[in-house]
Amino acid sequence: MEIDRRAFFAGLGGAVAVAAMTPEQKADALEEHMMRKLDQAAAQGQPSANGAVETFPTMAQVEAQIETRRNRQGVGNLFLSPTGNVKRLPPMPAKPTLLDFFNLRFNATSNHVRQSANRAMQTGMSEEIILACLLHDTAQELIKVDHGWWAAQLYEPYVSEKVAFAIRYHQALRFYEDAANGYKYPDLYRRIFGEDYKPEPYIEATYNMVRQHKWYIEPRLVTVNDLYAFEPGVNPQMEQFVDIIGRHFKQPKEGLGFDNSPVAHMWRSIAMPDHPL
Ligand SMILES: [Fe+2]
Ligand SMILES: [Fe+2]
Repeated sequence: MEIDRRAFFAGLGGAVAVAAMTPEQKADALEEHMMRKLDQAAAQGQPSANGAVETFPTMAQVEAQIETRRNRQGVGNLFLSPTGNVKRLPPMPAKPTLLDFFNLRFNATSNHVRQSANRAMQTGMSEEIILACLLHDTAQELIKVDHGWWAAQLYEPYVSEKVAFAIRYHQALRFYEDAANGYKYPDLYRRIFGEDYKPEPYIEATYNMVRQHKWYIEPRLVTVNDLYAFEPGVNPQMEQFVDIIGRHFKQPKEGLGFDNSPVAHMWRSIAMPDHPL
């Protein structure tokens, strides 16, 4: 997918605002922008607008822009409308399942993660990788900051340790090339972050740890499938993932949010984002 540079900058508060963002914030903003464009294109049945990414402003310029916004950049998709007022959400069932969350709450992230999981399925990946792809960005509905870590925590009680590992660390690995496994550092990032860009120390340290880990390939394969999952007009259906969810996702009988797990409140926050307290 090509990026409409003007629209992307405008959505972030302008070129000056983008300049002051950290590289991690830029990466998250870019991913979120691509997901939004994808959703818009899918909804309208039209290809997204074409445009060339040129240069990003420098980080120093945007610090001042923070105080010109009504919200923080890391706010979750459910809590902020990109245009106009937020919409009333449909009620959730009493005992919500993962599929209910996909159908009723994962509005901004669903298409991208389904595309990612669909590609993983088509390229013969393991069921755990397919599930990790399907879940990898969904916590961005709640919060975008460090979304890999948030998502892994959200799913940890219900998926295998390996799936949670893949979800948590895809966020850090996307900055590091791995030609042997088919992950080429995207030119898009090169243009946006500059040739001399270095990820923040906690990302670098995480990458070094994961690179040595016996499960390195798991989050790596999420990044491989992540890259190509922003195609306009592609809308894989959830039905093809239902069996994999059934085999690898431990749906609590009380419903997500009501099983007294350590993350139940996170599910309730996604289910009921309009609660004032
Ligand atoms: Fe991600
Ligand atoms: Fe993603």
